Amino acid sequence: MILDGASPAAITQAVQAISAGQLLGLPTETVYGLAADAARPDAVARIFAAKGRPSNHPLIVHVADADGVAHFARDVPAFAQRLMAAFWPGPLTLILPRRPDVGEATAGGQDSIGVRCPSHPVAQAVLRALALATPPVWGLAAPSANQFGRVSPTTAAHVAGEFGDSLLVLDGGPCGVGIESTIVDCTRGAPVLLRPGAISRAQVEAACGQRLQGDAALGEAPRASGTLEAHYAPAAKVRLMHAKALQTSLDLLGAEAAHIAVYARTPLRMLSSQVLLRRMPDDAQATAQQLFSALRDFDTQGVKLIWVESVPDTAEWDGVRDRLQRAAAA
Ligand code: TXA
Ligand code: MG
Repeated sequence: MILDGASPAAITQAVQAISAGQLLGLPTETVYGLAADAARPDAVARIFAAKGRPSNHPLIVHVADADGVAHFARDVPAFAQRLMAAFWPGPLTLILPRRPDVGEATAGGQDSIGVRCPSHPVAQAVLRALALATPPVWGLAAPSANQFGRVSPTTAAHVAGEFGDSLLVLDGGPCGVGIESTIVDCTRGAPVLLRPGAISRAQVEAACGQRLQGDAALGEAPRASGTLEAHYAPAAKVRLMHAKALQTSLDLLGAEAAHIAVYARTPLRMLSSQVLLRRMPDDAQATAQQLFSALRDFDTQGVKLIWVESVPDTAEWDGVRDRLQRAAAA
């Protein structure tokens, strides 16, 4: 059931569902999450079951503000404090040492925990109302609200499509960022980038006053499911190509081409009217915002192949390039 997230009655219903240990489709500025009380193992187990996600894959806890971190994490390093001050509320997740007495199921058994403070007004309204409930709920465990391995949802309708009408989903409109949060591991003495997102490497380094370490430099990290090669994949096969190779491939297929979608910035010559063409925006932010819904739309239209023009090799495209490479690896 989809409810308007702007309505106070819907927020009350959401609080009731979470307090009863149920799941909630929650809009955030990045993608929609599938949320439950992060401190309740029974509620968290429902998330893993609904997603078909292995229960040792850690989830992120969403908190109302930086004060909420103390309920789940300890020994927060100074550089992590600087990152919270700079980017929260916003699309940045920090991996921190976990308090041993809380959130073990949410953390997938790890002794660290991912924490993020979303800026979306509906997420904020739910988190603030939960803090006032009896007993209070200090954090929402929420992975992206998609079946394991699939593309993250960026609208309430996507979420309902993944989990059916029995799930309560708050509609907060299409997500503004469109790809999942930037993840920085803060448990290894120096910040380590685990997942690129809208907040860039350079922004993170400037705010914490430290260079981001490469993953390899610091040895084995806990594996993030978002870092598995083949992730974020639509049902259709995705292929990344430069504009020239794309044009050659289209020419080779000629008028026979069908069940193919092309997502490109460069204008291309189309010999078949059956090829679905969607123009990729010229800037990285706008592309991130529409990327997942574009991939979903192609699936809905029954396309078998999605040919995507490679994105520029600049830092601002890191998040989009990462998601496209994973989609193409599936
Ligand atoms: O933007 C987002 O982060 C969205 C919205 C809903 O907040 N959430 C999201 O959650 O993308 P999920 O579960 O799809 O991806 C979370 C990523 C996974 O790759 C997970 O492995 C990693 O965060 N992660 C969570 N806790 C971790 C931990 N303790 N150590 C290492 N990685 C962790
Ligand atoms: Mg996910």
